[in-house]
Amino acid sequence: MGKSSGSAPAAEPCRTPAVSPGRLRSSSFVQQVPFSNGAGVTVRSEALPRTVAVLLRVVSSIDLDAYVRMRCDPVMMAHLGGPQPVEGIKDKLQRDVAVATADREWTLMICPGDDPSVVAGTVSLWPHEIDGTRLSEIGWMVLPEYQGLGLAKRAVGEVLRRAAVDGRWGSIHAFPDVGNAPSNAICRSLGFVLEGEQDLAFAGETLRVNHWVIAPTP
Ligand SMILES: CC(C)(COP(=O)(O)OP(=O)(O)OC[C@H]1O[C@@H](n2cnc3c(N)ncnc32)[C@H](O)[C@@H]1OP(=O)(O)O)[C@@H](O)C(=O)NCCC(=O)NCCS
Repeated sequence: MGKSSGSAPAAEPCRTPAVSPGRLRSSSFVQQVPFSNGAGVTVRSEALPRTVAVLLRVVSSIDLDAYVRMRCDPVMMAHLGGPQPVEGIKDKLQRDVAVATADREWTLMICPGDDPSVVAGTVSLWPHEIDGTRLSEIGWMVLPEYQGLGLAKRAVGEVLRRAAVDGRWGSIHAFPDVGNAPSNAICRSLGFVLEGEQDLAFAGETLRVNHWVIAPTP
């Protein structure tokens, strides 16, 4: 595995402050949702074109609502061992913010429309030890109202590109549940190679997963 360039590409896209809730409420294109924490993190209510711009920004403490929606929902977690308890999510977020800020892991929020205040999902890249082998693992989530727009595929493709430029990650592995059709489609269409099926311990469950691997190029 190559040495880190020392730069923090995960921090690169966070270039504008969150849009104020007041401005969002006055817009016909964006509206706040009931679970908003008031910090300006919003979800679009209208259909987005597949060509919408996508910003990747580093996870921050304002992302608690998005974390809860992604990790505590039975549908979102159907292929990830089931929903997690809400009580542990704040600690999980704080931990992710800390390691992302230190550039030890990448946790990037997918923001459609180039707007850092709107969160559609997340892509993460982290060092992981599986069966005694240390490897780089990538994972992703997109909230239901944004699914099917190509956001996950584009975000994952961009993170692979950044990882190749960064140089520290080496080959990147993904372990989607064998029944997770969109996740397996993402791996296939981005050029991951299927190593085979295996059992994987995750969140107290044993999942039957496909093991995909790619050596990303810039
Ligand atoms: C998996 C997930 C991130 C996909 O997000 P998405 O933004 O809807 O995915 P995309 O629109 O980028 O589509 C990616 C690919 O999946 C395909 N796809 C999308 N929905 C699909 C479905 N329901 N069934 C089969 N294929 C599907 C797309 O056609 C595309 O394939 P292509 O590149 O060959 O055209 C999203 O469904 C999700 O968050 N699920 C819950 C959490 C989860 O399972 N995370 C993954 C853990 S490994």
